[in-house]
Order: sequence, then structure tokens, then C-alpha cells
Amino acid sequence: MSEAGSLYNRHRPATFADMVGQDHVARALGNALRSGRPAQGFLFSGPRGTGKTTTARILARCLNCQSSPGPTPEPCGHCDSCLRTGHGDWLDVVEVDAASSARRIDEMREWLETVRYAPVACRYRVTIMDEAHQITDDAASALLKTLEEPPPHLVVILCTTHPWDILPTIRSRLQHYVLRKPGLPALVRVLERVARSEGIESSEAALDILARAADGSYRDALGLLDQISTYAGGRVDSADALELLGAVARETMFELVDLMAAGEAAGAFELLQETLDGPVDPAQAMRGLVTHLRYVCLLQQGARTRDEWAFAPEEIARLQAQANQLSDAQVVRALDLLADAQVRIRHGGADPRLQLELVAARLSRPALDPVPAALEARIAALEAGRPAAAPPPAPAPPAPVAAPPPPPPPAPDPVAAEPVPAPEPPPAAPPAPPAPEPEAAGGEDDDMLDGDPGSEEELDAVAPAPPPAPVAPPVPTGPADVEHMERLWTQVLELLERDAPPTRGFLDGSRPTRVAGGILEVTVTSPMRAGMLGRPEHRERVRTAVRTVSGHELTIDFEAGDAPLEQAPATPPPPKDHEALFDELKTMFGAVEEGGDRT
Ligand SMILES: Nc1ncnc2c1ncn2[C@@H]1O[C@H](COP(=O)(O)OP(=O)(O)OP(=O)(O)O)[C@@H](O)[C@H]1O
Ligand SMILES: [Mg+2]
Ligand SMILES: [Zn+2]
Repeated sequence: MSEAGSLYNRHRPATFADMVGQDHVARALGNALRSGRPAQGFLFSGPRGTGKTTTARILARCLNCQSSPGPTPEPCGHCDSCLRTGHGDWLDVVEVDAASSARRIDEMREWLETVRYAPVACRYRVTIMDEAHQITDDAASALLKTLEEPPPHLVVILCTTHPWDILPTIRSRLQHYVLRKPGLPALVRVLERVARSEGIESSEAALDILARAADGSYRDALGLLDQISTYAGGRVDSADALELLGAVARETMFELVDLMAAGEAAGAFELLQETLDGPVDPAQAMRGLVTHLRYVCLLQQGARTRDEWAFAPEEIARLQAQANQLSDAQVVRALDLLADAQVRIRHGGADPRLQLELVAARLSRPALDPVPAALEARIAALEAGRPAAAPPPAPAPPAPVAAPPPPPPPAPDPVAAEPVPAPEPPPAAPPAPPAPEPEAAGGEDDDMLDGDPGSEEELDAVAPAPPPAPVAPPVPTGPADVEHMERLWTQVLELLERDAPPTRGFLDGSRPTRVAGGILEVTVTSPMRAGMLGRPEHRERVRTAVRTVSGHELTIDFEAGDAPLEQAPATPPPPKDHEALFDELKTMFGAVEEGGDRT
């Protein structure tokens, strides 16, 4: 489907009132517009798909609405300017992609030359510059000159996911607004609204699953709805959603944690096998378990439950029961083990399935776990009169991994962080920067910054933490052949894991199989996945990741292979053969294999 026809584009909010969430930005911009003297330079930053371009286009409509005698926070929606903003042919609102044009000095000069002229039909000539962090230093200096003394009709809006990469001298000339990752309720609201207007029948549970998978991106949420409604023929239920996403049902998480809490390793292990034999992505399953245990941990620390968790009341009661049954030490230990396993998967190419099994084994049987933290968990369990599973008779712990570092304090809950409302700024004066929020994991719940954004401290105070995965620079790192792509595949997946989790989800078990004529063929585990990945948005993300990691510009084709591949062959094999480990654990826990149809 073309970008223009995609669901998220057709349902792009056209006014501040249409926007869901981001009230802090809508309010502050509304006030600035009411003041009658809006700034001439803006910076919109925020993670992917959080509404930067959308907000920029709304601001352009506000500045230029022809039904109003001056800038207005409520554009009419039917004048030429309102209707044609956002379409490439409207001369008074130009969108430039700094990733492809206006990046280099000569292109920037050329562009700056054209914007010197008065607008054609409107009050302002608005330029929206996307991916602004890609502007080269030379080009940025040329832009700076214009920003220092802009012609009175010019408004420049820079959009970026990397505000800290914009020269401070430029940043200080711009009012900076930070778009936040929307929480679950906001995403579900957007999904409901779009589903209703498109006549897509969908259960609440299904939308909830999509919203969770979208990980704070409006665009990803709508992209997933688009795909799944096509896949499921206009009727979406939670089974479709789970299947498409490879996610684990919440009920399964409850059961798994119950079993582990009861020390029933064999049961936990079997449930895990059963689940992972279904259409479930082990890496997603692991993320699901982390989220679940984080809520348990928060309850243990006395946190109140929050709407964002999106649990039904009876589920909250179950969660609380698990919080009571498990010791603090056990839960912190579990989160610690999982965090460690995630790092090993990301950087060491470890097999997620194996890692999950190990975590389940160690949690159910603290005795298997040789580190002091596990001993603490056992003691806590004994003190509380809970069964602290006795060490099994025979073999030594199977864990082929180094002892992880001591447990970190429980991670703050990014979705649970109370949003700090932006203070109402007095009209005509730039709003004061709000107090920085406590840095949540990922640091993306940033607040709005504007007024005098020049100070480094302010920006640093809200700048998202640098991403964890190291990414190779975009220069060719080797030949564009399949061997090289295989070697780099883990890095490509890693990058997608960070930047495009839904795309990454479809690539579980994928591997590059051919490079010819500028086309990289990637084999994936099912025709459904190949079909999904063939959509422009996914294909584009994979292409970008391949370019970033390998430095090669390749078109990507997806083919469905016969057998699911556990991991790219380029990654080091897990230290122990999966079958052998399975047998070992089976003997250890007395698990009975049913049907013998494990793959
Ligand atoms: N506040 C919002 N309320 C409802 N829908 C929104 C909102 N913000 C964005 N969207 C939806 O998400 C889509 C993507 O938003 P947009 O293109 O503005 O994101 P972006 O931050 O510019 O992303 P990128 O970083 O990839 O450029 C929009 O087309 C729209 O459908
Ligand atoms: Mg954008
Ligand atoms: Zn208008």
C-alpha cells in the first residue's frame, strides 16, 4: 500500500483538537499562536511515529489559515491552505527531507535562496525540515545565518528523532517541543477511533495487544491495525493479533509466573515449550515476561496500579497475589536474569528460546542458581514459609553462562511515570521549561522544552539515554555478498529491535540467503511473514537497517523458507546444544514430553 493510502496517513490529525495525547505541546503551541507573534523557528523532537510531522503540519495550518485574519490555534479546515498543506504541491508549505536534500551546503544554499521570496498565497512561507539531525555542519552554518535574521515571512520547523545532534547554536534559535511516546490508553483510543471510522470490527483485547506491540508509536499502532485488518479480513480478534505479532497471551504469563512462584519447574518448563511451539516469538515472550514481572515488582514496592498497565480488576488481584507470593529478592533476581539474557541475545546472538528456558529453570529452582542473590531469594522464601525448591539430586546446574552482575535496583516504570503537565505559559512569553521528569528507562517520556532551549543542561536533562545497541557507521564494512550479510545479520536485527520492533518481530528466524543485482534476498519462516515484510514500510525499515549496518544500498526481497531457522548462521552457536539441554533439564525436573512433536 502506498504511504499516501495507508491507514495512518489517512487518519493523520489535521488540528490540535484531533490529536490524542501530546496535550502539553498542543496547549503551549496554542498559547504561542494566540499571542499573535509566533516564533519563526521551531524544533519538534521525539521518538519515531510520535507526531512530529503531524504537529508541524498542524502548526503550518494554524499560521496560514486563510479564514482567519492572523495566526490561529483553530484553523478552519476548508480553506486552500488548510486543505493543501501536507500535499507536496502547496508552495507556501514546503517539506524538505534533510536525509536526502538540503543536507549538503550547495543544496541548502539553493533552498535558502528560494525561501527569501514572499509567500504565494499565505502569511508565511513555512518550511518543514525532516530528519534535521542529518544536516551537515556546513549546511547548518548556512541555515544558522538565515535563522539569525529570518525574512519576516519565513517560519522554519525542524523535526528530528535526535535533537542532541542539532548544533547548539541552531537549537538556541528555535523553540523546542518534545513529543512524548503515547501511553497505552492514548494508543488504544487512536486505534478505536480509526477502527470505528474504517468499519473494522475489533475486540478491545485485540486493540490492546496492538497498542502494546506498537511500543509508543502512533504510526506503528495504526500500521499494525492496517496489516492485521487486511490479514483478518476486516474483523480483528485477539487470536489474530497474537498470531500476527508472535506475542504471548497475558493469561499464559500469569500461569507461567504462578508455576515459577510455586517452584513447579517442570510445569513452567512445559508451559514454556507449549507456548514457544506456537506462533510465538521467543524474544517477544521474554519482553512480555519482563513487563509482567516489572508490574509484580512495582506492586511489591507499594506502587499503585495504573491505567497504563491496562489490566482488568480481577487481573490486578491476581497480580497482587503473585506479588505477595514471591519475595522481593526473587522478583528482582528474575528481572536481573532476564535483563542479562536480553543483553546476551542482543550482543552475543544467544538463542532466546534457550535463554527463556534457563530463566524459567533458575526462577523455579533458586537452588540451581549459584550466585548469592539466588541464595538470598531462597532464604527469603524459607523465612516466608514458602517452598524453596530443594536442589535436584544429579547433574550440576546447566547454566553455561557467567554469573551476572549484582541486581540493579528495580527499573522505574516508563509508562507509570506521572506525566508532568507543562506549565501554562503566559501569553506572548515563551513558556518556562518544566522540571525534568525522573529519567525513565528509555528516557522517552520527555517533557516539552521551549522558550530558551539554548542551555545544554536543560537539553541534557531530558535527552533520551543513548541507545544501548552499538551501531556500525554507514560506510561499507565489507563486500555486498551473502556471506558478509550473514555475518552482519545479527546487527541488522539488533538495530531493528531498537528502532522498529514490529518489523523485527516478523524477522524472527530470518537469514540472508542471496545477494545479486543489488537485491538482498532474505528467507523468513512463513509466507505470512514474507507478505507482511514485503509491505513498503517494513521493507524500507529493513533496507535502512541494512544500509546503516553494512553501508550497502540494497533492495530487500523476502522469501518464505521451508524450515524455521532458530537464528542466523553467522551468530555463534549457543554454548550447549538445545536438544541436549532440553533432555538434561527434562531429566532434572522429571518433565514428561507429550506427543514428542517438539521441533
Ligand atoms: N497525537 C496524535 N494523535 C493521533 N494520531 C497521531 C498523533 N500523532 C501521530 N499520529 C498518527 O501517527 C502517524 C505518524 O505521525 P508522524 O508522521 O507525525 O510521526 P513522526 O514523529 O513525524 O514520525 P517520524 O519520526 O517517523 O518522522 C500519523 O500519520 C497519524 O496517523
Ligand atoms: Mg516525521
Ligand atoms: Zn483554513
